[in-house]
Amino acid sequence: MEARRALITGASSGIGREFALQLARQGYTITGVARREDKLRELIGELPGDQHGYLVADLSSGAGVQSVTDALARQQVNLLVNNAGYSVFAPFFESELALQQNILNVNCGAVVTLAHAFLRQAQRGDALINLASVVSYLPTPAQPMYSASKAFVAALSECLWAEQRARGVYVMGLCPGVTETEFISTASGGAADGSNLPGAMTQPVAAVVAEALVALRKRRKAIVVTGRVNRAMLWLPRLLSRHRLIKVLAVAGDPERML
Ligand SMILES: NC(=O)c1ccc[n+]([C@@H]2O[C@H](COP(=O)([O-])OP(=O)(O)OC[C@H]3O[C@@H](n4cnc5c(N)ncnc54)[C@H](OP(=O)(O)O)[C@@H]3O)[C@@H](O)[C@H]2O)c1
Repeated sequence: MEARRALITGASSGIGREFALQLARQGYTITGVARREDKLRELIGELPGDQHGYLVADLSSGAGVQSVTDALARQQVNLLVNNAGYSVFAPFFESELALQQNILNVNCGAVVTLAHAFLRQAQRGDALINLASVVSYLPTPAQPMYSASKAFVAALSECLWAEQRARGVYVMGLCPGVTETEFISTASGGAADGSNLPGAMTQPVAAVVAEALVALRKRRKAIVVTGRVNRAMLWLPRLLSRHRLIKVLAVAGDPERML
């Protein structure tokens, strides 16, 4: 089988790390991207095979994103997993504008630039996975920038899915719900880790990535929602008016419930 290379952003923890582990087991050569070099080095040491590598880059900065587009130009990448992303549980108007804009830089700006660089060199059979979220369709008032950023990623992914079909390049917008990663700890500044959320609401990271990789093999759907509970939750926008939905999500998504 021809060697395939995957570049995964946000590979130092959570969903990105798990993508690296499962894809390496499937024979992919991995390039992991993130800011924490120690975590990337540790990951590379765990992967089967010895061709894997990593790139330390801060995707909130132009220079960081440029270093990854340079890497995409240097090596033929068959799968890009645009995974790096985060949220901050903080009222929009009370927090610094720069803090809010930074979310947009990583969750949207870097995703657009890397998707563009990847798709220009992509060949038939290659694939792009963008990490969206159930929040793409269930905007959570406690996380306005995050919700808006993930709605953007889902819409972008659906449009690129349609655009790229004729080229034989598959684009997926992956929508997990609450997943057992560092996400809640990062968003809450360490005040919560999601462990007190109802078990039925959370998915283990291995299950999320396994579902994504099954969908990648099938190459059918533009949007892949992982987990039965998450798929059920996406009936809410069909059952409630938009006005009612936002009011319900303001209560259900209140970070205080996680503390
Ligand atoms: N966990 C959930 O409940 C959930 C649900 C739906 C969607 N998602 C999405 O899944 C993706 C992965 O999140 P996760 O749950 O795996 O969270 P996580 O464990 O916190 O991982 C986030 C990853 O993004 C990287 N990252 C953050 N800011 C970065 C920056 N400025 N430059 C480069 N890398 C950066 C982090 O690496 P460094 O800190 O080392 O830079 C880390 O590897 C995100 O896009 C998230 O929105 C998560």
